[in-house]
This record gives sequence, structure tokens and C-alpha cells, in this order.
Amino acid sequence: MSVIIRPIEQKDKEEWINLWTGPKGYIEFYKSSDKITPEITETTFKRFLDPQNPTYCNIAVNSETGKLIGFATYLTHTNTWALEDSCYLNDLFVSESNRLGGVGRKLIESVYEAADKLGCAKTYWHTQFENHRAQLLYVKVGVKDGFLKYSRPLKK
Ligand SMILES: CC(C)(COP(=O)(O)OP(=O)(O)OC[C@H]1O[C@@H](n2cnc3c(N)ncnc32)[C@H](O)[C@@H]1OP(=O)(O)O)[C@@H](O)C(=O)NCCC(=O)NCCS
Repeated sequence: MSVIIRPIEQKDKEEWINLWTGPKGYIEFYKSSDKITPEITETTFKRFLDPQNPTYCNIAVNSETGKLIGFATYLTHTNTWALEDSCYLNDLFVSESNRLGGVGRKLIESVYEAADKLGCAKTYWHTQFENHRAQLLYVKVGVKDGFLKYSRPLKK
């Protein structure tokens, strides 16, 4: 399969929302359909296209069918340990029937390229401990830095 990786555009909205919150999509993968409201989805999509907002999305398109088959979202932020910004890879997803064909790797490489252009010294991301499949890719394109992630408990 031949794949094109490019920044998301307004015309991709419907297909992106389908991969994001649709059946067998990313939010369902995370069992988080109750957390992602239509307002969050709408705002997130708007941010991708807002030049004032450092939130970005690259998509993977099957060049034969023209269908959107995956995406990587990322954002930049300042870092107290560097003069340059850092790049955080927020979401990575390839639709089920298009996995294991190198699309996930291409999406990560596209984020590395974008991070270089945005002047970021570092690109990093998290994954769930039990997401072994993703880690089979991550060990090839990244290094495990030994940090654990903690979060503030949800307010009651
Ligand atoms: C994680 C995910 C993005 C990977 O996408 P993908 O397109 O399948 O990934 P790729 O084909 O580029 O890479 C898979 C790599 O892992 C390796 N791999 C994956 N599964 C493997 C397995 N069962 N056994 C051995 N190697 C495996 C492949 O060999 C490949 O390495 P290569 O590039 O050297 O050939 C995709 O599985 C996905 O969307 N999963 C659901 C959502 C998710 O987990 N997102 C990540 C959240 S942190």
C-alpha cells in the first residue's frame, strides 16, 4: 500500500472525526467515549487549523483509495531545561485493517520532521504499560527514558 503523510486540512474533518470517535476508532480503543464530548472534538479539530495554536495533526492517506487511515497529533511547549521548545506526540492511531504496514512508523517520522522544522530539541510521548503492540514500534523509533507518569486524581 502506498501512503501519503500530510498535515490535516479542513476537508479531512469528517473522516478524521470518524477515526477519532467513530466505531473502532482511537477514543473507543482507549474506552473513553464517555470523556470526549462533541465540543472537545470540535475544539481539537479547530486547533489543528489555527496558526496561533501550537497543536498539529498529520494524517496518513491511502494514495490508491484517498481514504484517511491514520493520524498523529502533536503539540509544542517551552521547557525549563532547554532554550528550544519540546514536541509532545499526543495521539497516534492507524485504523485496524491498515496496521503492520509501516504507517505508524511513517507518522512518527513525520512528527520528528515537523519537530525539527518547529525548532524543537526533543520529541517525547507516553504509552500505556500494557500496550505491547505500540511498544514493538516505539523501541525501534525511540528510547525508553525511564520516567513514570503520574496525574492529579480527578476532582470529586
Ligand atoms: C500502535 C500503532 C499506531 C502502530 O501502527 P502500525 O501502522 O501497525 O505500525 P507499523 O506497521 O509502522 O510498525 C509496527 C512495527 O512494530 C513491529 N510489530 C508490531 N506488531 C508486532 C508483532 N506482533 N510482532 C513483531 N513485531 C511487531 C513491526 O515489525 C513494525 O516494525 P518495522 O517498522 O521495523 O517493520 C497501531 O497499532 C494502532 O493504532 N494501535 C491502536 C492505537 C494505539 O495503540 N496507539 C498508540 C497509543 S500510545
